Parts: sequence; structure tokens; C-alpha cells
Amino acid sequence: PRPIILDCDPGHDDAISLILALSSKQLNPLAVTTSAGNQTPDKTLNNALRVLTMLGRSDIAVAGGAVKPLARELIIADNVHGESGLDGSELPNPNFEPLPCSAIELIAQKVRDSSEPVTLVPSGPLTNIALFLATYPELHNKIERIVLMGGAAAAGNWTPAAEFKIYVDPEAADMVFKAGIPITMCGLDVTHQAQIMDEDIERIRKIPNHVAQCVAELLDFFMIYHRDPKWGFEGAPLHDPCTIAFLLKPELFSTYDCWVGVETKGEHTQGMTVVDRYQLTQHPHNTQVLCDLDREGFVDLIVECLNAYTDT
Ligand code: BDR
Ligand code: CA
Repeated sequence: PRPIILDCDPGHDDAISLILALSSKQLNPLAVTTSAGNQTPDKTLNNALRVLTMLGRSDIAVAGGAVKPLARELIIADNVHGESGLDGSELPNPNFEPLPCSAIELIAQKVRDSSEPVTLVPSGPLTNIALFLATYPELHNKIERIVLMGGAAAAGNWTPAAEFKIYVDPEAADMVFKAGIPITMCGLDVTHQAQIMDEDIERIRKIPNHVAQCVAELLDFFMIYHRDPKWGFEGAPLHDPCTIAFLLKPELFSTYDCWVGVETKGEHTQGMTVVDRYQLTQHPHNTQVLCDLDREGFVDLIVECLNAYTDT
């Protein structure tokens, strides 16, 4: 199985991403680290522990990361994810503790000890990943790829130009895109195609295990924010699970390679990912951008992953 490290800010879609990643024998999650983003850092860490407790996976190494972005105050998305960051489902209290080290120390330790190169899968602001890359340059050659949810080639979802997490910590995103490590970007262009519809949620609710029930409840809540007609959505975009879907079934996606830069300043464009789709600059390609998605296949994959859980 492919060794991965999940750095997340749970968050409904992060939680579902974790659930999918841990369902598959194709992936070997070495650690889960948390970033501040959808909620405050104490809550995102607690939420990761709650999800892993619900899955019976207290064996997974967990550590909390930076409590705020590199150069800015934290912005949270409680309007999307609620007071807890995971409103809508009665998750258990954690039955285990995070490790007494920082996220970047845990990432470094797992990468150093891994016999194979590791894929980093960030689904929160990129603060921890930027700090890890800056602190441990000797470990860069042990990173296979960074498969991240973030950014957009077209419109943003937090400002007209920016996707939420890149907007929260643009300096960190800038460092990550410049690090020279291959990046796969699951941006809003593709995640807005990854919409889960009411009938999909009902299909998930019929799966006879408690994990699927939890996912259905989380999706019911996540749906509320996305029903606003301004989005023009029929369902709720499952952003973060696109990373895991890409790792498990890349054939569901179409992609192109290009240069992507991050706007750290700008009157209207702070946090924008500038995607050179038409090779207008001479900048070397640094990113594989996900473009289109087989939505039905994506939903089938989620159902397949959730069916892998059984109640004992
Ligand atoms: C992304 O930002 C977070 O709110 C979500 O969990 C997702 O990772 C969507 O812009
Ligand atoms: Ca997230």
C-alpha cells in the first residue's frame, strides 16, 4: 500500500476523506496531523481524534500543528462546518491522545522512517506542510508527491479569486508550490463537480454500518450551506475526498500539467492560485491540475469504501 500522511482541518469533507482513506487496503496512512482552518486548532485536532475513535483506529499516530497561519490571523469556516467543526453527527469523545510532538515533527519522523517515499495529502491550510518543508529540506527527496485539495483555476469560493484554504494561509501555499516537489492540485474546478446529491446521501444511509450512518449525517449538515442558490449547486461539493479518490482511482479524473503560482498580495486576488493553463509563461510545470471528474464513478467509489466497514 502507498504510504500517505493526511494533514487536515476536520471539517466535514476532511472527516469523510479520512474515512475513505482508512477504508482502503491500497493506502497506508502513517499519520494524521491537523491544521487550523475550518475551525480553531483545538477543535480540528479533537475532531480528527473523534473520527479515528469512531473508526476504532486509535492506532493511528496523530499530532496537532500550527495554531495560526504563517503571517496572518486565523480565519475559520464555522459558517460551513458549525460550532464544533463537525456539526450534524454525534461523534464519540476521543479515546486516545495526540502524540506529545508537533505535526511537523510527526511528519518528519514518519517520512524519515518510511522505507518508501511518502505522499502528503493536505486538506487544510498549508501551514504545517510549508513549515515541514522549510524545516527538513533533507527529507524532500523522500516525498513522492503532494496531493492537495486547494485552489482553483477559475473562481474562488471564499473571495471571487481565492479558495478558502489558500486564502487562509497564502504564504504557506506559496512556499509549498515553490518547493520543487510534484503537486497534484484538486481545486474547486474539479471539487465542484464532485457534488453529492440527496439521492446519493440516501444510498449511503442504506449501507448497514455505523460509519456510513455517520457520513450520511455529516452530509446532511454539509448540504445546508451549499443549498444557497448563489452556488448553483444541486448537491454539496465533496472537496477533500477528491484527493483520496484520485489516489484510489486516478482514472476518474482528467488532468493537465502546468505552472501554478500563489498570489500573496493583490487588491482583489490574495490567495488566488494562478494556473497557467495555456502555458503563457516560461515557468517550469510544478503541478498536475485535476480538471474533470466522472461524478457517478466518484459516488460509486465512496459507496464501495463505506461498504468496507462492518459493525462488530
Ligand atoms: C476547503 O476548505 C475547507 O473548508 C474544506 O474542508 C475544504 O478543504 C474548501 O474550500
Ligand atoms: Ca479541509
